[in-house]
Amino acid sequence: MAERLPKPVSAALLLAAAAVAGLWLWVPREDGRRDADSKLGVIAHSGDALVPLPQVPRLPADKVALGKALFQDVRLSRDNTISCAGCHDLSSFGHDGRRGSVGVGGAEGSVNAPTVFNASLNFAQFWDGRAASLEDQAAGPVHNPLEMATDWAAVIGKLQADDAFRRDFLSAYPDGITAANLADAIATFERTLLTENAPFDRYLRGDPQAIDARAKLGYRRFRELGCVSCHQGVNIGGNMFQRFGVMADFFGERAPQRPAVAADLGRFNVTGQEVDRHVFKVPGLRNVAETAPYFHDGGVARLEDAVAIMGRYQLGRELSPDEIDSLVAFLKTLTGMPPASLKR
Ligand code: HEC
Ligand code: HEC
Repeated sequence: MAERLPKPVSAALLLAAAAVAGLWLWVPREDGRRDADSKLGVIAHSGDALVPLPQVPRLPADKVALGKALFQDVRLSRDNTISCAGCHDLSSFGHDGRRGSVGVGGAEGSVNAPTVFNASLNFAQFWDGRAASLEDQAAGPVHNPLEMATDWAAVIGKLQADDAFRRDFLSAYPDGITAANLADAIATFERTLLTENAPFDRYLRGDPQAIDARAKLGYRRFRELGCVSCHQGVNIGGNMFQRFGVMADFFGERAPQRPAVAADLGRFNVTGQEVDRHVFKVPGLRNVAETAPYFHDGGVARLEDAVAIMGRYQLGRELSPDEIDSLVAFLKTLTGMPPASLKR
């Protein structure tokens, strides 16, 4: 794959691609190319399409603290058994390590919980992108019968009855405990969840020793093979939608082990458009070595296997063990530290 287009590709073409990608941060380069995803009409770049994570933003401390408390508050669930952190463990890279998450009453969902770390940098939330912002997202699990199985009115009732909480909340939000304010506090906290000091970020910022030769080879292959045409920008993903199974039928071939369920339709569930069947938000790859199992169905336990699947279904090639090994060495350099602000 990855045949070259005549270069330079016209600026207009690149701008159109940037518009498609939405929040696209890339350093302009002269070369561009069409990769496997040309089937979806997206223009790909090689080059430095990856950028380091920004610093944790300064946000109102009282709202961050309230959001942090709410994130860990089981009163957000119907039977007071599960908090957001129950599925997005803040001491374990913001995820739960399960194939499908387990909510109130032991109900198992059909999709894997993505990490909340760096989620604020995604252009939309959820695998199918059905929430446009973290504020919109927050209502999802509260109302989801398989997750917290309640509603804001019930949650607000419980929180209103807690004098200390009500007082603290009023000082940050003069109009008091409303669904919008609760979502705002949670989202404000989530915006502080940027991981820090990943070796790859140190490398991008100019320290050539921050990653070893194996990882550098993996980074080169990540660009040359065309992974970067989908996984790019500050979150190394999270800025576009793409089909899972561009070059081969992933869901058809998975069917003998695991028949398709509604969640496998991806964005089709949001738009009802045939072109969106099996289309998902390209996940960010930051900290990916720490957030197994992989894919929206949580069906793959090893990062090596996830990379091989990407080669086969997204790029139309069988990656060699050496290619996979170097790509994984690169992906491991994307592991950062939980934000220092979490410990305060
Ligand atoms: C029962 C487990 C569970 C609970 C409780 C839960 N989540 Fe999630 N979370 C998930 C799953 C599963 C997904 C993916 C759902 C999907 O994409 O359809 C998800 C997705 C997300 C995302 C989107 C991340 C991305 O990259 O798309 C964010 C942000 C998030 N949750 C925050 C929260 C917050 C805030 C709460 C509490 C109000 C919460 N979660 C409670 C399991 C859970
Ligand atoms: C055509 C776009 C495209 C290309 C090219 C692509 N990916 Fe992906 N990648 C995706 C999508 C979409 C998903 C999510 C699939 C799903 O779970 O439904 C994904 C998921 C992943 C995951 C799992 C992440 C997680 O948290 O579950 C890894 C790891 C990954 N890709 C690595 C790679 C590597 C390495 C390459 C190059 C060999 C690559 N990808 C090429 C679109 C792409």
